[in-house]
Amino acid sequence: MDWKDRMTDWFRLAFFYGDNWISILGGILTTGTGFTLLWSWFRELASPHSASPYVGILLFILLPVVFLVGLVMMPLGMWLRFRKMRKAGTAPEVTPKVDLTSRHIRKVLTMVAIATGLNIALLGVATVRGVEYMDSSKFCGLTCHTPMIMEYRAFADSPHSRVGCAQCHIGPGVDSFFAAKMAGVRQLFGVVFNNYHRPIPSPVESLRPAKETCEACHWPQKFHGNQILVRNHYLDDEGNTPSITVLMLKIGGRSGEQNTGIHGRHIDTSERISYVATDERRQNIVKVTYRDDKGNLVEYFGGEAKEGEKPRPERKMDCVDCHNRPTHAFESPEWAIDHRITKGMISRELPFIKKKAVELLKVPYRTQAEGAAAIAKGIVDFYQTSYPALYRDKKALVDAAAAGVQDAYTRNVYPEMKLTWGTHPNQIGHQEGGCFRCHDGSHSTKDGSKTIAADCDSCHTILAQDDPDPKILKDLGTR
Ligand code: HEC
Ligand code: HEC
Ligand code: HEC
Ligand code: HEC
Ligand code: HEC
Repeated sequence: MDWKDRMTDWFRLAFFYGDNWISILGGILTTGTGFTLLWSWFRELASPHSASPYVGILLFILLPVVFLVGLVMMPLGMWLRFRKMRKAGTAPEVTPKVDLTSRHIRKVLTMVAIATGLNIALLGVATVRGVEYMDSSKFCGLTCHTPMIMEYRAFADSPHSRVGCAQCHIGPGVDSFFAAKMAGVRQLFGVVFNNYHRPIPSPVESLRPAKETCEACHWPQKFHGNQILVRNHYLDDEGNTPSITVLMLKIGGRSGEQNTGIHGRHIDTSERISYVATDERRQNIVKVTYRDDKGNLVEYFGGEAKEGEKPRPERKMDCVDCHNRPTHAFESPEWAIDHRITKGMISRELPFIKKKAVELLKVPYRTQAEGAAAIAKGIVDFYQTSYPALYRDKKALVDAAAAGVQDAYTRNVYPEMKLTWGTHPNQIGHQEGGCFRCHDGSHSTKDGSKTIAADCDSCHTILAQDDPDPKILKDLGTR
């Protein structure tokens, strides 16, 4: 038998056994998705706009999976058919031998090898793209984790909106990637069966240590000096009078060999503070251990466990104990409105807008859509009935304000997720516990000789407080 017959035999065999619906479907799937993938990558090269999250799932996850399935189906179908026929005794007699010395057989084998190589390369690129995509913020926040829409919105509105979710939540390394994806699979079941926690619990315990996340970008040894903080608030009077607070925060850090100020006292390579809380949110702190500059351990006690609470495992203080909302900061109703008046989304010209807006925000609504509608209606109704002339002349301002208040609501409250004002307290100041969890003047050593500082000057100098027009801002040249 010469090579030609052998080849025809081989092909015949492949065609013969390949003639089954599994292999044919496999062939169609692989070529179809292969071309689609190639086409989408070329298109992306031509116009690198990121795809919408749902297109993303299709392109980066579904298509490669289908491609792989098709690839496996082809030989599988052949093998199944072969087995079935052998059992039935209908398999053809001739089983062609492969003569590797034949140049043409080698050619065919090379072709097969190249095709396989191409397929593997295609699959490799598809996998890398898929992994990249699964790590992207859009995927985390919008596609897979719809219950995290509020974290995504808060994130998109924060200084870290260009830092990926994965950079804080997953961190570097293959092990953390797989750990996160396994957790993701569990969460997927949660979403499918609709039995996940509402609101999503804060995962400080499962967060990577700040050393591996925050400190990859922020170098604690580099902090020093003071920082001016200007807070624009508005009173709830008719004129929405500005009430401005100016603080000089003693951030400090390391200067020379000294650790000073807010950062210097708490963050250090020797990890100097640990504490014991009695509740999950760590709002109630009963014991604080501090390594002083001489290396001695000082223990402060204060507070009391509430009914049913007991001391939780000791935790070393790190960045996230103060900066717990570096990117998912939820506002208070007052601050949400102040912030939007300052940004110009809500006009200060509208009488009592601050008071009315906060009032409407605080009403408990059943769903976000219901709340948003009621709020817009509430604002419009208020000006229509109480200030009809103004409403006639400045309807555009009123409508814009209604939209601004709606935005304040939808950015912070998700009744469907049981997320509302105050659900996720921010520990950075002392509005919601924060520094005063320890610096409340009641955390002292057993013998009472030392107390954690609580005087207003230890953390900041108040340069102006509740001042409609602070002189200090004029002196600084900002007004
Ligand atoms: C700058 C770091 C950082 C980035 C970026 C980040 N997170 Fe977080 N995230 C945190 C920290 C810290 C907490 C814990 C908050 C706490 O304990 O109060 C948290 C908590 C959460 C929680 C728990 C619920 C809550 O609000 O406390 C979810 C869900 C979450 N993040 C999702 C996301 C998603 C989705 C993204 C991307 C869109 C993202 N995170 C990006 C730092 C980050
Ligand atoms: C991938 C890099 C990266 C990581 C990781 C990161 N940050 Fe940042 N962070 C930034 C950048 C960049 C800015 C400055 C943003 C700006 O000025 O608009 C910033 C700003 C900040 C600010 C100042 C915010 C403000 O209002 O000016 C704080 C506080 C902060 N980060 C804390 C943290 C904490 C806490 C973590 C860990 C949970 C963290 N960051 C993780 C890059 C990062
Ligand atoms: C004891 C609480 C506390 C701890 C712990 C802490 N910070 Fe801060 N940090 C503050 C306060 C307070 C500010 C002032 C800014 C503010 O009020 O938002 C600040 C400011 C910052 C800023 C902005 C500084 C600037 O000059 O713009 C960054 C960035 C920052 N912290 C990162 C970190 C990182 C990273 C860690 C952990 C290594 C950390 N912080 C640990 C309380 C803390
Ligand atoms: C878990 C408890 C705890 C929390 C929360 C905490 N601190 Fe502290 N802080 C301490 C301890 C302990 C010391 C050191 C006390 C000593 O000197 O013996 C300290 C010291 C300080 C000092 C130095 C005071 C001085 O007189 O030398 C400053 C400033 C400070 N903290 C600011 C803050 C700020 C700002 C926050 C909130 C963003 C905060 N701390 C949150 C425990 C805490
Ligand atoms: C342990 C440190 C610490 C102590 C003690 C402390 N503060 Fe503060 N305070 C802060 C920090 C940090 C902020 C900034 C929080 C932020 O970034 O939102 C702040 C913010 C403020 C603000 C501005 C709040 C706003 O949003 O307008 C006022 C007012 C204020 N403090 C008053 C006081 C007074 C009065 C005392 C004394 C009873 C005091 N603080 C004691 C750390 C402290």
